[in-house]
Amino acid sequence: MRIDIISAVPSLLESPFADSILQRAQTKGIVTVKIHDLRDYTNNKHRKIDDYAFGGGAGMVMTIQPIADCINKLKEERHYDEVIYMTPDGERLTQTMSNQMSALGNIIILCGHYKGVDQRVRDLFITKEITIGDYVLSGGELAAAVLADSIIRLIPGVLNDETSALTDSFQDDLLAPPVYTRPAEYEGKKVPEILLSGDQQKIETWRMDQAQKRTAKLRPDLLKE
Ligand code: ADE
Repeated sequence: MRIDIISAVPSLLESPFADSILQRAQTKGIVTVKIHDLRDYTNNKHRKIDDYAFGGGAGMVMTIQPIADCINKLKEERHYDEVIYMTPDGERLTQTMSNQMSALGNIIILCGHYKGVDQRVRDLFITKEITIGDYVLSGGELAAAVLADSIIRLIPGVLNDETSALTDSFQDDLLAPPVYTRPAEYEGKKVPEILLSGDQQKIETWRMDQAQKRTAKLRPDLLKE
């Protein structure tokens, strides 16, 4: 899979992909992540990527030219399955959406800034608009990193133990059960006996029961259907 991220502040996207699982996924050749500095695509000498809104009002709007030139150049090089725009007014990201997107070939993610992009960018190029939650960030970069992370870790081969994605919270609309490691007792607080029993079947039943109880308590909305 290949993910091209178009950004006005590319430095914000460096560290999320430079460490740990996301870095390893790239080294293994499972995913290619390319960050594009929007200012490299401007055709004005000030490298300006925004302008005043027609009709007035507070806030700047990202102009169409550099975004269009960047997307068109990428599209000349390969086919893209989705051109995604990160925006607070998009569709709310879910694990189901990340699962679906992890099966795609190539995607472009455009990060918004200021008051957003000229509507014609959305009309002409964008196939999917995504928000990571009902709050407003200063720009789409952190949201793009969240989206890319949630997708990449689901691509087969990225996680060492493939079942570890399958047992994540939300993967089956349940929160994950509690987990414990050494020591078996800490200041009088003991690990549940059953986890030390070695009876794998009983442990799985316990975990499922805990997942259900936790979900009912903390996220009853997930159990509604
Ligand atoms: N840009 C600003 N806020 C955002 C959000 N919540 N999700 C996606 N992109 C954003």
